Amino acid sequence: MTSILMVCLGNICRSPMAQAALYDAAQKAGMDIDIDSAGTASWHIGKAPDERGQKIVKKRASIDISSYKARQVNAADFDQYDYIYAMDEQNLRDLQLIQPLNSHAVVNLLLGNKKSVADPYYGDISDFETVWDQVSEATDIIVKNLAKL
Ligand code: 4NP
Repeated sequence: MTSILMVCLGNICRSPMAQAALYDAAQKAGMDIDIDSAGTASWHIGKAPDERGQKIVKKRASIDISSYKARQVNAADFDQYDYIYAMDEQNLRDLQLIQPLNSHAVVNLLLGNKKSVADPYYGDISDFETVWDQVSEATDIIVKNLAKL
């Protein structure tokens, strides 16, 4: 089974939403993917996703993410996951710093091509809507590409 890890800074805003968007896209395609999310920082370990993100995911995909728990990315993730997607370029650089040599995972930006999902933490609910638009478009493409393999 393909395994995919979504990574942002705090693991409470963007990456749990990307995790849910990928879950939604995979379900709709009838595909089984092992999906998780993590943060590069340790600040919010054990916390549920930001309530604004919870609200948008419920509204846009009818998925309850209130039981997701933030965790920090670790070296074992690079062998456990096939693909690790960073939300922004700083996340990508931080991942590359801790990626063990010769590890298994392919590490990339979720949006590709130097594009970042902007951090909505200090923004408002409309920024979380934008995050959903971006991550759901990207995860639909991921699922379509996996279906071709
Ligand atoms: P995330 O958003 O990386 O999308 O989970 C953030 C959450 C918390 C903080 C920054 C970004 N923070 O500074 O605590």
